[in-house]
This record gives sequence, C-alpha cells and structure tokens, in this order.
Amino acid sequence: MKILILGGDGYLGWPTAMHLSAQGHQVAVVDNYLRRSLCREENVEPLVEVPNLHQRSALWESVAGCHIPVFIGDLRQWDFIEDVFQRVAPEGVVHYAEQPAAPYSMLNRSAATLTLRNNLEVTANVIFAVREFCPDAHIVKLGTMGEYGTPDIDIEEGWLDVQRKGRHQKFLYPRQAGSLYHTTKIMDTDLLWFYVRIWNLRVTDLMQGPVYGIFTQENRTDENLYPFINYDELFGTVLNRFVIQAVADYPMTVYGKGGQTRGYLNIIDTLNCVRLSLENPAAKGELRILNQFTETFSVNQLAQKVQRAARAMGFRAEIATVENPRKEAEEHYYNPAHTGLLDLGLEPQFLTDEVLSEMIEFAAGHKNAINPEQIYRKVPWDRQ
Ligand SMILES: NC(=O)c1ccc[n+]([C@@H]2O[C@H](COP(=O)([O-])OP(=O)(O)OC[C@H]3O[C@@H](n4cnc5c(N)ncnc54)[C@H](O)[C@@H]3O)[C@@H](O)[C@H]2O)c1
Repeated sequence: MKILILGGDGYLGWPTAMHLSAQGHQVAVVDNYLRRSLCREENVEPLVEVPNLHQRSALWESVAGCHIPVFIGDLRQWDFIEDVFQRVAPEGVVHYAEQPAAPYSMLNRSAATLTLRNNLEVTANVIFAVREFCPDAHIVKLGTMGEYGTPDIDIEEGWLDVQRKGRHQKFLYPRQAGSLYHTTKIMDTDLLWFYVRIWNLRVTDLMQGPVYGIFTQENRTDENLYPFINYDELFGTVLNRFVIQAVADYPMTVYGKGGQTRGYLNIIDTLNCVRLSLENPAAKGELRILNQFTETFSVNQLAQKVQRAARAMGFRAEIATVENPRKEAEEHYYNPAHTGLLDLGLEPQFLTDEVLSEMIEFAAGHKNAINPEQIYRKVPWDRQ
C-alpha cells in the first residue's frame, strides 16, 4: 500500500514509517519540525539527540534497504500539501501532524492559538487534499482517549446509542476534554465526521491513550533510529518521565492524589494498531472509531511500578506528591471499552518489569544528559 505519514519526524511518526516500510508498504513522510522548534523555544531537549528526517531516512535505507522519501514543509500551506499529495497519490494517510502536548497548549495565549490553528488547519487541509487528489484513500487519524474525559459512566468505543421517547439514534459519544489540546482533537473528530457524511470519506479515528517506550523491532540496531524521548513537563509523557526521574534521583512527580487513571500502551502497540487499521480500512462513508490502549493504570500505580523496577536495579526511586498544576479529577470512575483493535488482531505488549527494566537501563546509560531543571516547571493550567 502507498502510505503517506504526516508528522513523520515525531515520536510516533518515524517509528511508524520504519515499521510500515519493513512490512513491505511504500511509505513517504512529511514534517515541518514544529515539535523540534517548540522544544527549542521552550528550552527543553529530548534525552538523546535525534538526527533529522533526511539523515534518519538515509540511515534506514542503509540498514533495511527501504527507501522513504522525505517532504519538509508546513501542512497548513495548501501549495505544499497539494504538491505532496499529487506526487505521492497515497492509498492510506496516517495523520499524526499536530501539536500534541496538552501542557504546552495551556502554557499561554500564543501557545494556545498555535495549537488551535495548527491542529485544525492541518486536519482541514488533509480532508480537502484527500477529497481532491485521492478520494478513495483511507485516513487514519490519531485522536486521543482524552477526548472522552472521565465521565461517571462506561466509555464506549466512539459511539453511544441513545434511546429517547421510544426512538433511538447513534451519536458520537459525549466528549469533554481537560485541555485545549484535547479540545482540538474533539474538533478534529467533528470535522472528520462532517466530511465523512458530506463526501463519503473513509476514516479511522484512533482514540489513543498515553504511549510509553523507546524500542521497536526496527530501531534496535542503531540508536540514531530511536524516537524523541522528552522528559520535561511540557512534551514528555508520564511513564517515560517517571523512568527518567527515577534514574536522575528526582522524586517521581505524582500530581495531587495520583488516582488519575488512563489507558496506556507500548509504542510497539501503536505501530501495530496503525498498521492493522490501514490493512483493514474503514468503508467509504464510515467514521470508524477505535479506542487505542491496552491497559489502564492510575498515576500512583505507574509510579509504584517504576519504583519497584528501579529499586531492583539499585536506584532510590522516591515518589513525591506535588501540587497538581492541572485541573482534573484526581479520583474517578474509569471503564473504557477497547475491543475493536483486539478484534483486528492486536496482540498487546503489556507493561512488565522486563519492559520497564529495559527503559531504565537505557535512561541510566544517558544519565549525564538529564537536566533536572527541565523536569518540572509547574505550568498552571488556569493561568491563561
Ligand atoms: N504520544 C502520545 O502519547 C500520544 C497519545 C495520544 C495521541 N497522540 C497523537 O498522536 C500524534 C503523534 O504524536 P507524537 O507523540 O508522535 O507527537 P510529535 O509531536 O512527536 O509528532 C507530531 C509531528 O507532527 C509534526 N507537525 C505538527 N504540525 C505540523 C505541520 N503543520 N506541518 C507538518 N508537520 C507538522 C511535528 O513537527 C511532529 O514531528 C499526535 O496527533 C498526537 O496528538 C499521541
């Protein structure tokens, strides 16, 4: 299949590009290095320096013999996206190209405006480009479990059947985000659903939980193929952050009561979920929504897991309760469905002590690169 990966330089984009090309798909990647430039502006760096996309593509070609063309440009620009879609003529489009950090979106007005404009304009341009140049292509869009929030009833897989006065209708499951970033994802879903109805598009919206991990089947041969590992408060995700905090002898920053529960998954599972979605496409005129995570944990449970694995390796791995900079429920009901991807054939990689030990060992090998000042700046979510 000819697959275009938008956001191909990112934490998930580059590992996905290698994975799909190793599986025999013809892959091209697009990025404008937005994530890299926002990190620089905010003075945070990933744990390990990541070569640029051209360098990684050349390296992957020498390792695996797969050629991945690289397009550098801003997907908000119609001239650019038009040119890329015409040249690639994709059958599948993986849309990762957004500002994906909730804390960044809550930093100040300019970060909020950038997040809003970037995410919605890219999604709209992707929809317009598919309609114009490849109307049968399947869009696989990364959404987030955060779109649902933490309602006091079970979370279904995208849709809710509502019975009222003897009649019934299926609606998008009610969504109530906890950050501006998550709100842009809700708006993306609404845009996609609108154009699925109007233009018969073929879309899978993957409601993904926080991803953890570094290693995939494809990157083990060369550290230069590893993804970004951010451990700062703005761009890092919680488990990756706890691992690095444990190694840096920085007490793990549990926000408030620590009962915040979410669905998590290994980066290897992300690649498999995206591949399974592409290989089993949604029908024309269908918005298929799949909840993409494999296990649920509270923040306390995650910290305790990291503590156990790190202590077994000789680290002190203390846990601290810090004032919660976010506005969120710290204890709540959480029971989301997630059978769709298992039905497509996903075989989950669970968060075992072995998986954690490997991550801890990697972080320990780069301990000197950890800058403790990056870890926690306490960005208050109600400041804007
Ligand atoms: N990582 C997670 O835990 C997680 C969880 C749930 C959902 N997601 C979603 O998955 C997707 C990928 O996440 P990620 O962690 O790889 O993020 P990332 O920031 O590492 O990757 C996104 C990439 O898109 C690029 N990009 C953004 N705007 C662009 C534009 N206008 N033109 C061209 N390129 C642009 C960025 O430069 C970046 O390389 C995002 O949409 C995110 O919301 C991620």
